Amino acid sequence: MDLKDQIDKKNLPQHIAVIMDGNGRWAQKKGNQRIFGHKNGVKAVRDTVEGAAELGINFLTLYAFSTENWNRPKQEVDALMSLLITSINSETDTLIKNNIRLLTIGNIDGLPKNVSAKLKVLINKTANNNGLSLILALNYSARWEIVNAVKSIVSEHKQNPVDVNNIDNKFFEKYLNTKDIPDPDLLVRTSGEYRISNFLIWQMAYSELYFTEVLWPDFRRNDLYEAIVDYQKRERRFGKISEQIKK
Ligand code: FPP
Repeated sequence: MDLKDQIDKKNLPQHIAVIMDGNGRWAQKKGNQRIFGHKNGVKAVRDTVEGAAELGINFLTLYAFSTENWNRPKQEVDALMSLLITSINSETDTLIKNNIRLLTIGNIDGLPKNVSAKLKVLINKTANNNGLSLILALNYSARWEIVNAVKSIVSEHKQNPVDVNNIDNKFFEKYLNTKDIPDPDLLVRTSGEYRISNFLIWQMAYSELYFTEVLWPDFRRNDLYEAIVDYQKRERRFGKISEQIKK
């Protein structure tokens, strides 16, 4: 039986988050520059996005550029920014054709102007699509997001201090970049690294974690299906006991 046929359509993860790792190693293994890996990573992005949309996944978040990635050699950072622009240009039609809505998390205004402007145009163009929501994490890190949330709360309540008794998870989540987006059910990380790397720390409190040795440029929808089949074998207890879940 095909992997895709093994997927229970009634138990799909609503939100899948992906740490796309291994582009550099993939390229270096082939004797190429790291950017060659990033370019081939775009093919993996396309196939994964199409695969997720076709399955009926509601939210897919891709960690495309972290706040720490600015520390890479300038040449690589510049190449990644150019790649983002060419990808936005080349993928616009695919997003529209597949009814995909583009969203971003992260400090978008901290990206080069030409990148943030292009992103904003595409976000507006796809705002009414109601298929897959594709969320690009760009200039994002979870600690930045959480500190930013605290700053927003403080500045918003300067005149009108918040009652501490009203601060709970629901209150706090409204200040995160992911407000209105459900927490990821499944996190996929490629390239055999077992880390969270400052990604969606708050939101992943109860996510199922799936790690694969596949390097990102080799990742295809079939690898996504494999992750989903594995996810569907798990029992998600959210702190309860097995008997309570089975009721
Ligand atoms: C991690 O691999 C990958 C990145 C930091 C960039 C991801 C970017 C893309 C897949 C291309 C553009 C994305 C979109 C959404 C169009 P790494 O460089 O850390 O690999 P390594 O661990 O082998 O060095």
